[in-house]
Amino acid sequence: MLALKIPKNKADFIRRILLKHSLIDLDFKIKRSDEYVYIPILKKPDNEVLREYDKDFEVVYQSFDAYRKRPTSLKGYLKDVVEQDVILEIKKSFDIIGDVVILEIPEDLESLKYKIADAALKFTKRKSVYRKSSEIKGVMRTRTLEHLAGEDQSETLHTEYGSRLLLDVRKVYFSPRLATERERIVEQVSDGEVIVDLFAGVGPFSVNIARQKTVEIYAVDINPHAIYYLKRNMKLNKMKGMIIPVLGDAHQFLSEKDVNADRIIMNLPGTACKYLEEAINSLKVGGTLHYYEFSSDYQNPIKRIKEASRKRDVTILNKRKVKSSSPGTWHMGIDACIN
Ligand SMILES: C[S@@+](CC[C@H](N)C(=O)[O-])C[C@H]1O[C@@H](n2cnc3c(N)ncnc32)[C@H](O)[C@@H]1O
Repeated sequence: MLALKIPKNKADFIRRILLKHSLIDLDFKIKRSDEYVYIPILKKPDNEVLREYDKDFEVVYQSFDAYRKRPTSLKGYLKDVVEQDVILEIKKSFDIIGDVVILEIPEDLESLKYKIADAALKFTKRKSVYRKSSEIKGVMRTRTLEHLAGEDQSETLHTEYGSRLLLDVRKVYFSPRLATERERIVEQVSDGEVIVDLFAGVGPFSVNIARQKTVEIYAVDINPHAIYYLKRNMKLNKMKGMIIPVLGDAHQFLSEKDVNADRIIMNLPGTACKYLEEAINSLKVGGTLHYYEFSSDYQNPIKRIKEASRKRDVTILNKRKVKSSSPGTWHMGIDACIN
């Protein structure tokens, strides 16, 4: 292939000019002999700048060793390991939280799990890869994770819309897929509001809001690990507003604390309905409710909000499918104004 043969002492200078003019064929390795350096080029240099130096090099034909190309996608890393349709499935279930990658690997690929995890580690350049080994379960909404590649370090720092969120993927619930939903809510909040984040977790709603708005937020969660990380996250972020962390049961909080909230966030889609009536009672006239429920349609969650509001007037402000939860079922979000 086409190359420039350059005396060693001039090679670096000429290489820089070639690079600036995109003339080097970067797929091949530069070759060196005792006296000369051979640079693979894409075409004969004919530009002004190089013409001045053409006594310093000779255009020759040379063979070069090619660089081994690194794949640029997960598909590239996995193409020799599993079938195309399996790669697509793995991609759909892929979550990155800080330096941690969480994968779903079907049972029938058990024997390939380490190869898949290794590919994910290389492709994402994160530090740890875990496999989901149970559904999200229990009151704390956590799941069991199997460590497959990289470090076994489940505590990580995740960044979401400028908020720094420290959390342990084994000890608390956290879904990066709700980032856009949280930002939607932040945009609706006005300075001066009193807010209840009833199932706050490590505080992604609360921290995102309090960083940007001068508000007072009661952030309630029953999981002590979640409240521990929420407190750490309050220190990790510069906040305009104030968060009051509350470790305990939502029902107890609502019955003991006499809040008159402008806004209540209820992100516990499986069981939030049990707390709906009490939550609405804590909402001031004209207050906003952000209610989440697993449902196949909008009617069910809307009907529940209306029933729980009893004689109060309800205006549905927005309804949306936040994310898919299982085939035919969605994590639905309903915003309602309760008068
Ligand atoms: C789906 S997670 C949502 C966490 C957070 N809002 C987020 O978006 O990442 C629900 C949270 O509710 C908490 N939780 C469950 N039951 C509760 C209860 N009765 N009272 C207070 N918190 C509860 C769990 O510990 C969990 O952190």
